[in-house]
Amino acid sequence: MIDRNAPSAKSARARLAARYLVALRRCLDPKRPRRDDRRAQCLGRLAVAGGLVTLDLAIMHEKAVVALAPTHDFARTANGALQRAGLFFTQALAPLEAARRVTREAIAHLHQRNETLHLHAAALAKGNRQLVREVARRRAGELAIIQGREKYRALLQESLVMQQKLRLLTRQILSAQEEERKEISRELHDEVVQTLVSINVELAALGKGASASLRGLKAKIARTQRLVETSMSEVHRFARELRPAVLDDLGLIPALDAYSKNLAARKKLKIQMTAFGGVEALGSTKRTVLFRVAQEALTNVARHAQATQVRMTISEVAGAIRMEISDNGRSFPVGETLSARNPKRLGLVGMRERVEMVGGRLTIESAPGLGTTVRAEIPINQGRTSA
Ligand SMILES: Nc1ncnc2c1ncn2[C@@H]1O[C@H](COP(=O)(O)OP(=O)(O)OP(=O)(O)O)[C@@H](O)[C@H]1O
Ligand SMILES: [Mg+2]
Repeated sequence: MIDRNAPSAKSARARLAARYLVALRRCLDPKRPRRDDRRAQCLGRLAVAGGLVTLDLAIMHEKAVVALAPTHDFARTANGALQRAGLFFTQALAPLEAARRVTREAIAHLHQRNETLHLHAAALAKGNRQLVREVARRRAGELAIIQGREKYRALLQESLVMQQKLRLLTRQILSAQEEERKEISRELHDEVVQTLVSINVELAALGKGASASLRGLKAKIARTQRLVETSMSEVHRFARELRPAVLDDLGLIPALDAYSKNLAARKKLKIQMTAFGGVEALGSTKRTVLFRVAQEALTNVARHAQATQVRMTISEVAGAIRMEISDNGRSFPVGETLSARNPKRLGLVGMRERVEMVGGRLTIESAPGLGTTVRAEIPINQGRTSA
Protein backbone atom coordinates (compact mmCIF):
# COMPACT_ATOMS: atom_id res chain seq x y z
CA MET A 1 0.00 0.00 0.00
CA ILE A 2 1.39 3.38 -0.98
CA ASP A 3 1.45 6.06 1.74
CA ARG A 4 0.03 9.07 -0.12
CA ASN A 5 1.31 11.55 2.46
CA ALA A 6 4.87 10.29 2.53
CA PRO A 7 7.38 12.96 1.28
CA SER A 8 8.59 10.65 -1.50
CA ALA A 9 4.98 10.12 -2.67
CA LYS A 10 4.38 13.90 -2.63
CA SER A 11 7.52 14.68 -4.63
CA ALA A 12 6.65 11.93 -7.12
CA ARG A 13 3.21 13.49 -7.51
CA ALA A 14 4.79 16.92 -8.06
CA ARG A 15 7.14 15.45 -10.70
CA LEU A 16 4.22 13.80 -12.41
CA ALA A 17 2.23 17.06 -12.29
CA ALA A 18 5.14 18.85 -13.93
CA ARG A 19 5.36 16.21 -16.67
CA TYR A 20 1.61 16.38 -17.12
CA LEU A 21 1.81 20.13 -17.58
CA VAL A 22 4.58 19.79 -20.18
CA ALA A 23 2.75 17.07 -22.02
CA LEU A 24 -0.55 18.99 -22.05
CA ARG A 25 1.22 22.06 -23.31
CA ARG A 26 2.70 20.08 -26.18
CA CYS A 27 -0.68 18.56 -26.88
CA LEU A 28 -2.25 22.01 -27.13
CA ASP A 29 0.44 23.25 -29.46
CA PRO A 30 -1.46 24.10 -32.65
CA LYS A 31 1.65 23.31 -34.66
CA ARG A 32 1.32 19.66 -33.64
CA PRO A 33 -1.68 18.47 -35.52
CA ARG A 34 -1.59 14.82 -34.21
CA ARG A 35 -3.24 13.85 -30.97
CA ASP A 36 -0.85 12.73 -28.24
CA ASP A 37 -2.84 9.72 -26.88
CA ARG A 38 0.16 7.50 -26.12
CA ARG A 39 1.87 10.15 -24.07
CA ALA A 40 -1.37 10.81 -22.10
CA GLN A 41 -1.84 7.07 -21.43
CA CYS A 42 1.81 6.79 -20.36
CA LEU A 43 1.17 9.52 -17.79
CA GLY A 44 -1.97 7.68 -16.69
CA ARG A 45 0.03 4.50 -16.14
CA LEU A 46 2.58 6.44 -14.10
CA ALA A 47 -0.30 7.81 -12.03
CA VAL A 48 -1.54 4.27 -11.43
CA ALA A 49 1.97 3.18 -10.42
CA GLY A 50 2.19 6.15 -8.04
CA GLY A 51 -1.04 5.11 -6.34
CA LEU A 52 -3.06 8.05 -7.71
CA VAL A 53 -6.82 7.90 -8.15
CA THR A 54 -9.14 9.58 -10.67
CA LEU A 55 -9.64 12.62 -8.47
CA ASP A 56 -5.86 13.17 -8.15
CA LEU A 57 -5.51 13.13 -11.91
CA ALA A 58 -8.50 15.47 -12.29
CA ILE A 59 -6.88 17.94 -9.88
CA MET A 60 -3.58 17.59 -11.71
CA HIS A 61 -5.35 18.27 -15.00
CA GLU A 62 -7.21 21.24 -13.60
CA LYS A 63 -4.01 22.78 -12.22
CA ALA A 64 -2.29 22.27 -15.56
CA VAL A 65 -5.20 23.95 -17.39
CA VAL A 66 -5.05 26.87 -14.94
CA ALA A 67 -1.29 27.10 -15.44
CA LEU A 68 -1.72 27.12 -19.22
CA ALA A 69 -4.65 29.55 -19.17
CA PRO A 70 -2.48 32.74 -19.58
CA THR A 71 -0.99 31.37 -22.79
CA HIS A 72 -3.95 29.48 -24.16
CA ASP A 73 -7.36 30.85 -24.76
CA PHE A 74 -9.62 28.13 -23.52
CA ALA A 75 -12.67 30.33 -23.81
CA ARG A 76 -12.55 30.29 -27.57
CA THR A 77 -14.06 27.07 -28.64
CA ALA A 78 -13.03 27.61 -32.19
CA ASN A 79 -9.37 26.89 -31.46
CA GLY A 80 -10.38 23.50 -29.89
CA ALA A 81 -7.93 23.92 -27.00
CA LEU A 82 -10.50 22.96 -24.40
CA GLN A 83 -11.60 19.94 -26.41
CA ARG A 84 -7.98 18.82 -26.92
CA ALA A 85 -7.24 19.22 -23.24
CA GLY A 86 -10.37 17.22 -22.43
CA LEU A 87 -9.34 14.42 -24.82
CA PHE A 88 -5.85 14.37 -23.30
CA PHE A 89 -7.35 14.03 -19.84
CA THR A 90 -9.63 11.20 -21.02
CA GLN A 91 -6.66 9.31 -22.45
CA ALA A 92 -4.67 9.85 -19.28
CA LEU A 93 -7.64 8.56 -17.29
CA ALA A 94 -7.89 5.32 -19.30
CA PRO A 95 -5.16 3.37 -17.40
CA LEU A 96 -6.71 4.45 -14.11
CA GLU A 97 -10.09 3.23 -15.24
CA ALA A 98 -8.52 -0.03 -16.42
CA ALA A 99 -6.75 -0.36 -13.07
CA ARG A 100 -10.03 0.23 -11.27
CA ARG A 101 -11.68 -2.48 -13.38
CA VAL A 102 -8.86 -4.90 -12.56
CA THR A 103 -9.17 -3.96 -8.89
CA ARG A 104 -12.94 -4.50 -9.02
CA GLU A 105 -12.42 -7.86 -10.67
CA ALA A 106 -9.76 -8.72 -8.11
CA ILE A 107 -12.12 -7.73 -5.31
CA ALA A 108 -14.90 -9.83 -6.87
CA HIS A 109 -12.43 -12.68 -7.19
CA LEU A 110 -11.38 -12.16 -3.58
CA HIS A 111 -15.03 -12.22 -2.55
CA GLN A 112 -15.45 -15.47 -4.39
CA ARG A 113 -12.31 -16.85 -2.75
CA ASN A 114 -13.65 -15.69 0.55
CA GLU A 115 -16.91 -17.54 -0.09
CA THR A 116 -15.00 -20.68 -0.98
CA LEU A 117 -12.89 -20.26 2.14
CA HIS A 118 -16.06 -19.90 4.18
CA LEU A 119 -17.38 -23.09 2.66
CA HIS A 120 -14.07 -24.84 3.35
CA ALA A 121 -14.08 -23.51 6.90
CA ALA A 122 -17.65 -24.76 7.38
CA ALA A 123 -16.71 -28.18 6.01
CA LEU A 124 -13.64 -28.24 8.26
CA ALA A 125 -15.74 -27.23 11.27
CA LYS A 126 -18.19 -30.01 10.44
CA GLY A 127 -15.31 -32.49 10.09
CA ASN A 128 -13.91 -31.25 13.34
CA ARG A 129 -17.22 -31.76 15.11
CA GLN A 130 -17.42 -35.27 13.70
CA LEU A 131 -13.85 -35.87 14.85
CA VAL A 132 -14.66 -34.64 18.34
CA ARG A 133 -17.72 -36.93 18.41
CA GLU A 134 -15.60 -39.86 17.13
CA VAL A 135 -12.93 -39.20 19.76
CA ALA A 136 -15.63 -39.09 22.46
CA ARG A 137 -17.16 -42.32 21.10
CA ARG A 138 -13.77 -44.05 21.10
CA ARG A 139 -13.02 -42.81 24.60
CA ALA A 140 -16.36 -44.22 25.75
CA GLY A 141 -15.51 -47.48 23.96
CA GLU A 142 -12.09 -47.62 25.61
CA LEU A 143 -13.69 -46.92 28.97
CA ALA A 144 -16.20 -49.70 28.39
CA ILE A 145 -13.36 -52.07 27.46
CA ILE A 146 -11.40 -51.10 30.58
CA GLN A 147 -14.50 -51.51 32.76
CA GLY A 148 -15.27 -54.82 31.04
CA ARG A 149 -11.71 -55.98 31.64
CA GLU A 150 -11.91 -55.02 35.28
CA LYS A 151 -15.25 -56.78 35.63
CA TYR A 152 -13.80 -59.84 33.94
CA ARG A 153 -10.80 -59.76 36.26
CA ALA A 154 -13.07 -59.46 39.29
CA LEU A 155 -15.23 -62.34 38.05
CA LEU A 156 -12.16 -64.46 37.38
CA GLN A 157 -10.88 -63.70 40.86
CA GLU A 158 -14.27 -64.59 42.28
CA SER A 159 -14.37 -67.84 40.34
CA LEU A 160 -10.85 -68.71 41.52
CA VAL A 161 -11.90 -68.12 45.10
CA MET A 162 -15.02 -70.23 44.54
CA GLN A 163 -12.93 -72.97 42.97
CA GLN A 164 -10.61 -72.89 45.93
CA LYS A 165 -13.56 -73.07 48.33
CA LEU A 166 -15.03 -75.94 46.36
CA ARG A 167 -11.79 -77.89 46.52
CA LEU A 168 -11.57 -77.29 50.24
CA LEU A 169 -15.13 -78.47 50.63
CA THR A 170 -14.47 -81.56 48.51
CA ARG A 171 -11.48 -82.39 50.68
CA GLN A 172 -13.50 -81.92 53.83
CA ILE A 173 -16.22 -84.15 52.40
CA LEU A 174 -13.66 -86.78 51.41
CA SER A 175 -12.13 -86.76 54.89
CA ALA A 176 -15.53 -86.89 56.55
CA GLN A 177 -16.55 -89.65 54.18
CA GLU A 178 -13.53 -91.73 55.18
CA GLU A 179 -14.41 -91.37 58.85
CA GLU A 180 -18.02 -92.21 58.16
CA ARG A 181 -17.04 -95.24 56.14
CA LYS A 182 -14.90 -96.44 59.02
CA GLU A 183 -17.86 -96.04 61.33
CA ILE A 184 -20.36 -97.80 59.05
CA SER A 185 -17.88 -100.58 58.34
CA ARG A 186 -17.41 -101.15 62.08
CA GLU A 187 -21.18 -101.08 62.65
CA LEU A 188 -21.71 -103.63 59.89
CA HIS A 189 -18.99 -105.90 61.26
CA ASP A 190 -19.81 -105.59 64.92
CA GLU A 191 -23.57 -105.23 64.88
CA VAL A 192 -25.22 -106.44 61.68
CA VAL A 193 -22.92 -109.41 61.04
CA GLN A 194 -23.13 -110.45 64.68
CA THR A 195 -26.93 -110.36 64.57
CA LEU A 196 -26.92 -112.36 61.34
CA VAL A 197 -24.57 -114.89 62.92
CA SER A 198 -26.90 -115.21 65.93
CA ILE A 199 -29.92 -115.70 63.64
CA ASN A 200 -28.01 -118.36 61.76
CA VAL A 201 -27.07 -120.18 64.96
CA GLU A 202 -30.68 -120.08 66.08
CA LEU A 203 -31.86 -121.37 62.73
CA ALA A 204 -29.33 -124.22 62.85
CA ALA A 205 -30.57 -125.21 66.32
CA LEU A 206 -34.16 -125.06 65.13
CA GLY A 207 -33.32 -127.27 62.15
CA LYS A 208 -31.69 -129.90 64.35
CA GLY A 209 -34.55 -129.96 66.85
CA ALA A 210 -37.37 -130.29 64.32
CA SER A 211 -38.84 -133.81 63.94
CA ALA A 212 -39.05 -135.71 60.67
CA SER A 213 -42.73 -134.91 60.36
CA LEU A 214 -41.84 -131.34 60.15
CA ARG A 215 -39.73 -131.89 56.99
CA GLY A 216 -41.35 -128.98 55.25
CA LEU A 217 -40.37 -126.69 58.06
CA LYS A 218 -36.84 -128.13 58.01
CA ALA A 219 -36.45 -127.31 54.32
CA LYS A 220 -37.73 -123.79 54.90
CA ILE A 221 -35.23 -123.30 57.72
CA ALA A 222 -32.41 -124.54 55.50
CA ARG A 223 -33.41 -122.09 52.73
CA THR A 224 -33.59 -119.21 55.23
CA GLN A 225 -30.17 -120.23 56.55
CA ARG A 226 -28.70 -120.05 53.04
CA LEU A 227 -30.23 -116.61 52.60
CA VAL A 228 -28.73 -115.48 55.88
CA GLU A 229 -25.31 -116.85 54.84
CA THR A 230 -25.47 -115.00 51.50
CA SER A 231 -26.43 -111.82 53.33
CA MET A 232 -23.53 -112.33 55.73
CA SER A 233 -20.98 -112.63 52.97
CA GLU A 234 -22.51 -109.65 51.15
CA VAL A 235 -22.37 -107.55 54.30
CA HIS A 236 -18.78 -108.72 54.88
CA ARG A 237 -17.82 -107.66 51.38
CA PHE A 238 -19.63 -104.37 51.72
CA ALA A 239 -17.93 -103.68 55.02
CA ARG A 240 -14.54 -104.59 53.55
CA GLU A 241 -15.08 -102.26 50.61
CA LEU A 242 -16.20 -99.46 52.85
CA ARG A 243 -13.12 -99.74 54.96
CA PRO A 244 -11.16 -102.96 55.02
CA ALA A 245 -10.10 -103.65 58.59
CA VAL A 246 -7.07 -105.33 57.12
CA LEU A 247 -5.87 -101.94 55.85
CA ASP A 248 -5.59 -100.69 59.40
CA ASP A 249 -4.60 -104.01 60.92
CA LEU A 250 -2.23 -105.56 58.38
CA GLY A 251 -1.40 -102.79 55.93
CA LEU A 252 -1.94 -101.59 52.36
CA ILE A 253 -0.47 -104.53 50.47
CA PRO A 254 -2.60 -107.22 52.16
CA ALA A 255 -5.67 -104.97 51.80
CA LEU A 256 -5.02 -104.46 48.09
CA ASP A 257 -4.24 -108.13 47.64
CA ALA A 258 -7.52 -109.16 49.26
CA TYR A 259 -9.49 -106.56 47.36
CA SER A 260 -8.02 -107.42 43.95
CA LYS A 261 -8.38 -111.18 44.49
CA ASN A 262 -12.04 -110.71 45.37
CA LEU A 263 -12.66 -108.45 42.36
CA ALA A 264 -10.73 -110.74 40.00
CA ALA A 265 -12.86 -113.68 41.10
CA ARG A 266 -16.12 -111.81 40.77
CA LYS A 267 -15.37 -110.09 37.46
CA LYS A 268 -13.25 -112.81 35.82
CA LEU A 269 -10.28 -110.49 35.53
CA LYS A 270 -6.60 -111.33 35.76
CA ILE A 271 -5.00 -108.92 38.20
CA GLN A 272 -1.23 -109.03 38.62
CA MET A 273 0.25 -107.16 41.54
CA THR A 274 3.83 -106.18 42.38
CA ALA A 275 4.40 -104.03 45.43
CA PHE A 276 7.33 -102.36 47.13
CA GLY A 277 7.13 -103.28 50.83
CA GLY A 278 8.37 -99.84 51.94
CA VAL A 279 4.94 -98.45 51.10
CA GLU A 280 3.78 -99.60 54.53
CA ALA A 281 6.05 -96.98 56.06
CA LEU A 282 3.67 -94.32 54.75
CA GLY A 283 1.24 -92.82 57.22
CA SER A 284 -2.30 -94.12 57.45
CA THR A 285 -3.83 -91.21 55.45
CA LYS A 286 -1.49 -91.75 52.52
CA ARG A 287 -2.02 -95.50 52.58
CA THR A 288 -5.77 -94.94 52.63
CA VAL A 289 -5.43 -92.58 49.63
CA LEU A 290 -3.51 -95.25 47.70
CA PHE A 291 -6.10 -97.86 48.65
CA ARG A 292 -8.97 -95.61 47.48
CA VAL A 293 -7.22 -94.81 44.19
CA ALA A 294 -6.60 -98.49 43.51
CA GLN A 295 -10.17 -99.30 44.48
CA GLU A 296 -11.63 -96.68 42.09
CA ALA A 297 -9.22 -97.49 39.26
CA LEU A 298 -9.94 -101.23 39.52
CA THR A 299 -13.71 -100.61 39.75
CA ASN A 300 -13.47 -98.47 36.60
CA VAL A 301 -11.60 -101.24 34.79
CA ALA A 302 -14.27 -103.73 35.80
CA ARG A 303 -17.12 -101.39 34.86
CA HIS A 304 -15.92 -99.61 31.74
CA ALA A 305 -12.76 -101.05 30.21
CA GLN A 306 -13.87 -104.50 29.01
CA ALA A 307 -10.33 -105.56 29.85
CA THR A 308 -9.00 -109.04 30.52
CA GLN A 309 -5.80 -108.13 32.32
CA VAL A 310 -4.72 -105.56 34.87
CA ARG A 311 -1.26 -104.80 36.22
CA MET A 312 -0.87 -103.07 39.54
CA THR A 313 2.63 -101.93 40.54
CA ILE A 314 3.76 -100.05 43.60
CA SER A 315 7.34 -98.82 43.47
CA GLU A 316 9.62 -96.21 44.94
CA VAL A 317 10.76 -93.26 42.80
CA ALA A 318 12.88 -90.30 43.90
CA GLY A 319 11.35 -89.51 47.29
CA ALA A 320 7.90 -90.75 46.35
CA ILE A 321 5.77 -93.85 46.10
CA ARG A 322 4.38 -94.54 42.65
CA MET A 323 1.35 -96.71 42.10
CA GLU A 324 0.36 -97.67 38.57
CA ILE A 325 -2.75 -99.53 37.48
CA SER A 326 -2.78 -100.46 33.78
CA ASP A 327 -5.43 -102.34 31.88
CA ASN A 328 -5.57 -103.78 28.39
CA GLY A 329 -9.11 -102.59 27.72
CA ARG A 330 -10.63 -99.94 25.51
CA SER A 331 -9.48 -96.37 25.89
CA PHE A 332 -11.38 -93.19 26.66
CA PRO A 333 -10.77 -89.42 26.14
CA VAL A 334 -9.26 -88.49 29.50
CA GLY A 335 -9.06 -84.67 29.14
CA GLU A 336 -12.58 -84.42 27.79
CA THR A 337 -13.99 -86.68 30.52
CA LEU A 338 -12.24 -84.75 33.29
CA SER A 339 -13.24 -81.32 31.96
CA ALA A 340 -16.84 -82.40 31.32
CA ARG A 341 -17.43 -81.93 35.06
CA ASN A 342 -20.27 -84.43 35.09
CA PRO A 343 -21.60 -84.28 38.65
CA LYS A 344 -22.64 -87.93 38.40
CA ARG A 345 -19.13 -89.13 37.70
CA LEU A 346 -16.94 -88.55 40.69
CA GLY A 347 -14.45 -91.38 40.41
CA LEU A 348 -11.63 -89.74 38.45
CA VAL A 349 -12.14 -86.34 40.12
CA GLY A 350 -12.20 -87.92 43.57
CA MET A 351 -8.99 -89.87 42.85
CA ARG A 352 -7.20 -86.70 41.81
CA GLU A 353 -8.49 -84.73 44.79
CA ARG A 354 -7.44 -87.40 47.27
CA VAL A 355 -3.93 -87.64 45.78
CA GLU A 356 -3.47 -83.86 45.70
CA MET A 357 -4.74 -83.62 49.29
CA VAL A 358 -1.59 -85.41 50.43
CA GLY A 359 0.71 -83.41 48.13
CA GLY A 360 0.80 -85.99 45.36
CA ARG A 361 0.06 -86.04 41.64
CA LEU A 362 -2.32 -88.15 39.59
CA THR A 363 -1.96 -88.76 35.87
CA ILE A 364 -4.19 -90.80 33.60
CA GLU A 365 -3.12 -91.99 30.17
CA SER A 366 -5.44 -93.71 27.79
CA ALA A 367 -4.81 -94.56 24.16
CA PRO A 368 -6.53 -96.80 21.63
CA GLY A 369 -4.93 -100.24 21.64
CA LEU A 370 -2.89 -99.46 24.76
CA GLY A 371 -5.64 -99.37 27.37
CA THR A 372 -5.56 -97.07 30.36
CA THR A 373 -2.90 -96.34 32.98
CA VAL A 374 -3.70 -94.53 36.20
CA ARG A 375 -0.56 -93.30 37.94
CA ALA A 376 -0.48 -91.82 41.44
CA GLU A 377 2.69 -90.44 42.96
CA ILE A 378 2.72 -89.59 46.63
CA PRO A 379 5.69 -87.96 48.36
CA ILE A 380 7.18 -89.99 51.16
CA ASN A 381 8.11 -87.10 53.44
CA GLN A 382 5.87 -84.24 52.45
CA GLY A 383 2.50 -83.80 54.08
CA ARG A 384 3.68 -85.64 57.19
CA THR A 385 1.06 -83.86 59.23
CA SER A 386 -1.74 -85.57 57.33
CA ALA A 387 0.17 -88.85 57.09
N1 LIG B 1 -10.07 -97.84 32.86
C1 LIG B 1 -11.01 -97.26 32.09
N2 LIG B 1 -11.25 -97.76 30.84
C2 LIG B 1 -12.17 -97.20 30.04
N3 LIG B 1 -12.93 -96.13 30.38
C3 LIG B 1 -12.75 -95.60 31.60
C4 LIG B 1 -11.79 -96.14 32.51
N4 LIG B 1 -11.81 -95.37 33.63
C5 LIG B 1 -12.73 -94.43 33.42
N5 LIG B 1 -13.31 -94.54 32.22
C6 LIG B 1 -14.32 -93.67 31.60
O1 LIG B 1 -14.30 -92.45 32.31
C7 LIG B 1 -15.59 -92.15 32.81
C8 LIG B 1 -15.47 -91.42 34.12
O2 LIG B 1 -15.01 -92.28 35.16
P1 LIG B 1 -15.41 -91.97 36.65
O3 LIG B 1 -14.76 -92.99 37.49
O4 LIG B 1 -15.07 -90.54 36.90
O5 LIG B 1 -16.97 -92.09 36.65
P2 LIG B 1 -17.87 -93.38 36.65
O6 LIG B 1 -17.02 -94.58 36.88
O7 LIG B 1 -18.69 -93.36 35.42
O8 LIG B 1 -18.83 -93.12 37.88
P3 LIG B 1 -18.40 -93.14 39.46
O9 LIG B 1 -18.65 -91.75 39.92
O10 LIG B 1 -19.30 -94.11 40.09
O11 LIG B 1 -16.98 -93.53 39.54
C9 LIG B 1 -16.30 -93.46 32.87
O12 LIG B 1 -17.68 -93.31 32.77
C10 LIG B 1 -15.73 -94.19 31.68
O13 LIG B 1 -16.40 -93.84 30.48
MG1 LIG C 1 -15.66 -94.70 38.50
